[in-house]
Amino acid sequence: MMLTREILLKKAETVREKAVLLRREFHRIPELGFAETETTERICRHLRELGITPHPLEPTGVCAFIGPEEGYTIALRADIDGLPVTEKTGLSFASEHAGRMHACGHDGHIAGLLGAAAVLKELEDALSVRVKLIFQPSEENTKGAAHILKQGVLDDVNCIFGLHLFSDKKVGEISVEEGPRMAQTDRFSIKFQGRGGHAGKPHQCVDATVMAADFVMSVQSIVSREVNPLESAVVTIGSLHAGTQYNVIAGEAQVEGTCRSFREETARHLKEAVEKRAAHIADYYGGKAEIAYTYGAHPPLINDARMTAQVAACVESLLGRRLTHEEPLMLGEDFSWYQTKVPGVFAFVGCGNPEKPCFPNHHPCFDIDERALTDAVLLHLAAVCAAEKFCVCREKVSV
Ligand code: NI
Repeated sequence: MMLTREILLKKAETVREKAVLLRREFHRIPELGFAETETTERICRHLRELGITPHPLEPTGVCAFIGPEEGYTIALRADIDGLPVTEKTGLSFASEHAGRMHACGHDGHIAGLLGAAAVLKELEDALSVRVKLIFQPSEENTKGAAHILKQGVLDDVNCIFGLHLFSDKKVGEISVEEGPRMAQTDRFSIKFQGRGGHAGKPHQCVDATVMAADFVMSVQSIVSREVNPLESAVVTIGSLHAGTQYNVIAGEAQVEGTCRSFREETARHLKEAVEKRAAHIADYYGGKAEIAYTYGAHPPLINDARMTAQVAACVESLLGRRLTHEEPLMLGEDFSWYQTKVPGVFAFVGCGNPEKPCFPNHHPCFDIDERALTDAVLLHLAAVCAAEKFCVCREKVSV
């Protein structure tokens, strides 16, 4: 038997308030990547209350199954970590952990997936596919997905669905689109080594501040002069540290940054261009550059065309409204690691309240319009409906 729209909508309505309560509960207790112990414990408790057996991951995170014991399996994934941000929302359920905040909506992701789990558990006997819930740790530091993949989390999975709440899109705006959606993210750290000394005797020194400054300006021309203008790419320097005092020439400077792109050819070029500039500039000034470049901290997030078509159709049918078009984002998302193993779809979900000022994800005042939680629940349910169709198609093909 297949899940029907009427039943799903009715059931989703019954978890609407529960999803809000869950979101607020998790909002109070943000924890950083791989330290989500309380979060994991509470997710396990909520799963047990639903009659679902949790299988904890190492060191944090949890997965669980609903539906048939074997067969075609769709994974539904929510990331669960918070950020090192001090919350300034003034909400009654604001963070109780100093210097930690759910400033990226992952509290809403947990609530959306638990809400969907409640509905799916009730309809378990009607499910023709197996559902694997994945509550993934440590998305923000790009390490979580790769870490739990090594624990075999996708070994028994055929396809995967995930979503992200974004406050700069209005609540109700949902994008489920095929192809590249989020960028490959590389990061680099460069230590310029010079020779320090007196500010009044620059000729006796090798000024690391000047090397770093030259490097920062030089990389600005990589995208504008070396990347095909029809391609998307980003080179951003996020931090620069040098020197201790106005009259001391710095012997050392540290620069950190990130490159973003969608295609391997571009990503490779960005890496070469950054490394070449760092080495040449250091050499030019008579210093040295120690370059640590992490290529592919995560790969580009690319939605599978066939699965996207099925999921998008099911989402539109379930929500009863048209999906919106959103441009791809130059942000990174480690969901992309899963897509290197199985077909996957990742949706963008608007959570901005049009009547309130918009604070972007990661801002200390970031908040969500909680109506988006119902959308999140419905999207997970729609993905399961799509998998049921997917699965039938597969069987037909194999016959
Ligand atoms: Ni996030």
